[in-house]
Amino acid sequence: MKKFVLAITGATGPIIGLRVLKALGRTAEVHMIISRQSFSILRDESGVDLSGENAVAMEKKIRKLAGSKNIYWYDEGNFEAPVASGSFRTDGMFVIPCSMKSLSGIANGYSNSLIERAADVTIKEGRPLVLAPREMPFSPIHLENMLKLARIGVKIAPPVIGFYHGPKTIDDMVDFVAGKILDLMGVEHEIYKRWGK
Ligand SMILES: Cc1cc2nc3c(=O)[nH]c(=O)nc-3n(C[C@H](O)[C@H](O)[C@H](O)COP(=O)(O)O)c2cc1C
Repeated sequence: MKKFVLAITGATGPIIGLRVLKALGRTAEVHMIISRQSFSILRDESGVDLSGENAVAMEKKIRKLAGSKNIYWYDEGNFEAPVASGSFRTDGMFVIPCSMKSLSGIANGYSNSLIERAADVTIKEGRPLVLAPREMPFSPIHLENMLKLARIGVKIAPPVIGFYHGPKTIDDMVDFVAGKILDLMGVEHEIYKRWGK
């Protein structure tokens, strides 16, 4: 079974990270980190309330949400988690959505949270890393951070919607972005209709 790290950070759109979690949980083991700053956004945008939970309760809740037992959860301050070390082998990492703060931490090797450390490990070990940076508009600082990472092979996949698959609902748009992100990691899925099919 493949093993992925999935982080959700405090940008708008954690629903996309949750969609990827559900798709990954079907066939892969997922090691999940959710930044504390994204808790209120998850609550307000997706009705998912994770506040006040301990690690065990959090893992249980996330497994229920994903509909899978193959999910492991770590606090963003837990630098003793397996994903903080390169010796813990994974098939890659996603950050969806990726805030400009976490983007900066990752681009500059500043491992101030477990999310930034796990991304740093993913880069140093030469494993695939996919970021979905979310801001509007991007400043030159944001763009420079993205370019720096793209140049070393990190996939920069902002949640930009497409229209050629005929979306009718927000879920259709979320599925399209989540599907494109999964494609970048080579994960099989059927969550959006491909062009030409
Ligand atoms: C409702 C809400 C929406 C936000 N949306 C964004 C966003 O889209 N992009 C971004 O970079 N920051 C956004 N922020 C600010 C980040 O949450 C903030 O910079 C935070 O430090 C990110 O920390 P984290 O990456 O550790 O989660 C938002 C904050 C709030 C409260």
